[in-house]
This record gives sequence, C-alpha cells and structure tokens, in this order.
Amino acid sequence: MKVAVAGKGGSGKTTVAAVLARSLARAGRKVLAIDADPNPCLAVSLGIPPEEATKIEALPGNLLVDRIDPEGKRAVGLAMSPHEISERLGVKAPDGVMLVLMGGVDHAGTGCNCAGHATVRAILENVSGDEALMTVTDMEAGLEHLKRGTPRHADVMLMVVEPYYKSLETAVRVAALASELGIPRVYAVANKIRGADDEIVIKEVCDRQGLKLIGSVPYDEVVVEAQRSGAAPMDIDGNSPAVRCIAQIAGRLESGE
Ligand SMILES: Nc1ncnc2c1ncn2[C@@H]1O[C@H](COP(=O)(O)OP(=O)(O)OP(=O)(O)O)[C@@H](O)[C@H]1O
Ligand SMILES: [Mg+2]
Repeated sequence: MKVAVAGKGGSGKTTVAAVLARSLARAGRKVLAIDADPNPCLAVSLGIPPEEATKIEALPGNLLVDRIDPEGKRAVGLAMSPHEISERLGVKAPDGVMLVLMGGVDHAGTGCNCAGHATVRAILENVSGDEALMTVTDMEAGLEHLKRGTPRHADVMLMVVEPYYKSLETAVRVAALASELGIPRVYAVANKIRGADDEIVIKEVCDRQGLKLIGSVPYDEVVVEAQRSGAAPMDIDGNSPAVRCIAQIAGRLESGE
C-alpha cells in the first residue's frame, strides 16, 4: 500500500501521516514515511526529538539515473531500490518507521525543486505491490504536487479536510486531480471535528461531490499539546481520540474498505 496525504495548508496532513505510519508499523508492517514537503515537519510528529529532526539530511540528488524502459525509450530510474533507500538513507523513527526527506529550501533564489519531486515519484513507482514495504507520503499543502504528478504511483490518496468551505473546496480539487493521475483509491479524512454540525457539513459536501469519507478525526487537545511540546501525538497519549481514530483509518485502508 502506498498512501499519499494531501489537503489544504494546516488541515492536519502531517498529523494524519505520522499517526498512520506508526499505526501501520505497530500492526507489523514495514513502513517508509516520506516527507514530501519542502518545509519538512514529519519527523517530529513521528516522535523524533526536535534537536535530531533538524539534523536529518534530505535524500541526495544523485538517486535518479537514466534508464531505458522496456519499449526502448529513455526514462528516469532509481540508483537503488526503495528498500535500500529505506535501509541505507532512512532515519529510524519510533515503532521502526523509516523516514526520508524529499529535500527542503536551503538557500533562497536557487530555483525549483524538480529533482526532489522526481525522486519521490520514482520511489513510489519502484515500490512494487509485492515488496513488503508500505509508504506514507506527507505532501506539501495545495495542488502543485498533483500538477507535477509526484504522487502518481500512490495507490491511496487521503485528502485531509477541515469543516470549512475553503478546505472542502481544496479537497474537491485534490480528488479530481488524484483521479486524473489514476490513483485508484481516493478518500476524504475529516479532521478537527468539534461536533455533529462539523461532521454534517463535511458529509454533505462529500455526498454531493461523490467523495468517500473514510473517517472523522475529532479535535483533540493531545494533538495540540504534541505540537506545543515538539512530540508525537502517539507518545503523549496513544489512546487519545484523534490517535485512535487515525489508527482505525489505517485498519480500514488495510482491509481495503
Ligand atoms: N485532530 C486535531 N485536533 C487538534 N489539533 C489538530 C488536529 N490535527 C491537527 N491539528 C493541529 O493543526 C495544526 C496543523 O497540523 P499539521 O501540521 O498536521 O497540518 P498540515 O496540514 O500538515 O500543515 P502544513 O500545511 O503546514 O503542512 C497543528 O497545530 C496541529 O497540532
Ligand atoms: Mg504538514
């Protein structure tokens, strides 16, 4: 399973990606978490201490190689398998999750981040279905990664959505673009739900737009406290309402719901 997590800025993508990755790892899966945000934040949400998280280096630029595809055309390949990338270049997070970073913005005015996006795309392309490696990719806010096709080879797209109009509008756009890329399973995840009214708003939009809602994550002070103290929600309280709900979503994804 290759999950990509997208949505509007601040909707909770990193929180969902982190708890999902650790829940899958706790269920015995081998998980590679990919931080595909040039402003990387996934490490701390996974439970890597902030002072270590700031030292994690991005994936090197030389992982992409030219190759000839089966039809004889030039294509982009990877210098090592996703499994090797995970083992050799990944940083270990709690529960055995391995983390790699797409690469950030070290200097201003130095141009685009095409190589980073191409590397993430190639990793996802080369994780084959039978390789016992699951990926959870935390995308950058907004839609650019979809225009670039970075998550093209994901098989699940989660759109994290808050109960307000602009967040819902972003989810609708993400869903359309994810389907255009051919991602087979596209789901909305409602987040920061404070009551029945919030849930109703999201359900109405999902029904009208034909989006499948895979779970509703409550607003949870444990997530807020985790953010405040630079820790993983799971390490503050592994049984908090949001953590439990995201763990249930992991189960639903695995069972193919
Ligand atoms: N279920 C929740 N309950 C309460 N607060 C939450 C919840 N989910 C996320 N948050 C808070 O919302 C903020 C944004 O969360 P997060 O960083 O996961 O979002 P994001 O979509 O990855 O943001 P960005 O677009 O900046 O990458 C954080 O302060 C986080 O603590
Ligand atoms: Mg984020």
